[in-house]
Amino acid sequence: MPLRSILAGIGAYLPERILSNDELAARLDTSDAWIRERTGIRQRHIASPRESCAFMATEAARAALTSAGAVPADVDAILLATATPDQAFPATALRVQAALGVPGGFGFDLSAACAGFVYGLSVADAMIRAGQVRGVLVIGSEVYSRIMDWNDRGSCVLFGDGAGAVFLRAGEGSGSIDRGILSTHLHAQGSLGDILYVDGAVGLRDKPGTLVMNGREVFRHAVVRLSEAVDEALAANGLSRRDVDWLVPHQANLRIIEAMGKRLGLPSERVVVTVDRHANTSAASVPLALAEAVADGRIRGGDLVLMEALGGGLTWGSALVRM
Ligand code: UT7
Repeated sequence: MPLRSILAGIGAYLPERILSNDELAARLDTSDAWIRERTGIRQRHIASPRESCAFMATEAARAALTSAGAVPADVDAILLATATPDQAFPATALRVQAALGVPGGFGFDLSAACAGFVYGLSVADAMIRAGQVRGVLVIGSEVYSRIMDWNDRGSCVLFGDGAGAVFLRAGEGSGSIDRGILSTHLHAQGSLGDILYVDGAVGLRDKPGTLVMNGREVFRHAVVRLSEAVDEALAANGLSRRDVDWLVPHQANLRIIEAMGKRLGLPSERVVVTVDRHANTSAASVPLALAEAVADGRIRGGDLVLMEALGGGLTWGSALVRM
């Protein structure tokens, strides 16, 4: 029987500090009403100095292992999607490996901006199917608060910090019980790199960089590309829109999320939304949303879940998972 990547556990971490729209409006030319109307965002979590990318990733990963009934020795690989690592190297994934007490295996960071978690799922799934690894932590962890231009109202109101993680375990699939990752599809278009980017890097001394975004352009591409990605995932699996139980989309803007739900013909209660409370947590947004809907009992074993995301690069993709 073919090997499948079973989503065995899931975990999340959000910083304690919550920053409301009103607090932003007190020091920027913006308003709670504008932010809510244009994005659906009411608040975001902001990391304290202690809540580093590695710290949050470790907390989310530990919760994922616990919910899977797994121990650190079960982890063969750690894939950490982030645009905001703590250091250029070692990879934040390896700080997590050490903090969790994972005795061996390997790990690396993956840079695909907001699509990073879907990219991570895809890479992990390929390695599991190839028989290279049996237990993989895929984590999205981001501290975008540290790369924000806090004077740019067009971007700083949109993002937040947090981490989400899943533990994937190799399992045997069959025609009737097809649990696990059914498909992933990845895409990128480097020629659109200048509509959403960070204008610096750890490697550029004195210029760590801040996020720059042409919001209107990104919005336009997001709706088109994510619609294509949704259709592509269904077609590849011979499924129709009616087969999807849940859409767990990237949480950038409620208007984009609603457009995707419409595309699938899903009622709004079948679309998981966290953007109102988390804002855009980039690579952490999809696993954070998934973790919330699993924890509160909305998403259950056997449900068909479609995840999609698009981010700077441009990068985008989908993952279709039978829970
Ligand atoms: O995760 C990666 C993917 N990222 C995304 O998917 C983000 C995609 N883009 C968006 O979500 C939206 O484009 C935004 C929320 C960023 C902006 O919404 P919009 O409806 O596209 O607004 P806009 O950029 O067209 O700006 C409309 C107006 C402008 O004023 P003028 O030029 O019409 O006078 C902006 O200066 O709104 C102004 N504006 C603001 N006003 C109050 C921009 N930001 C703010 C703000 N508060 N925070």
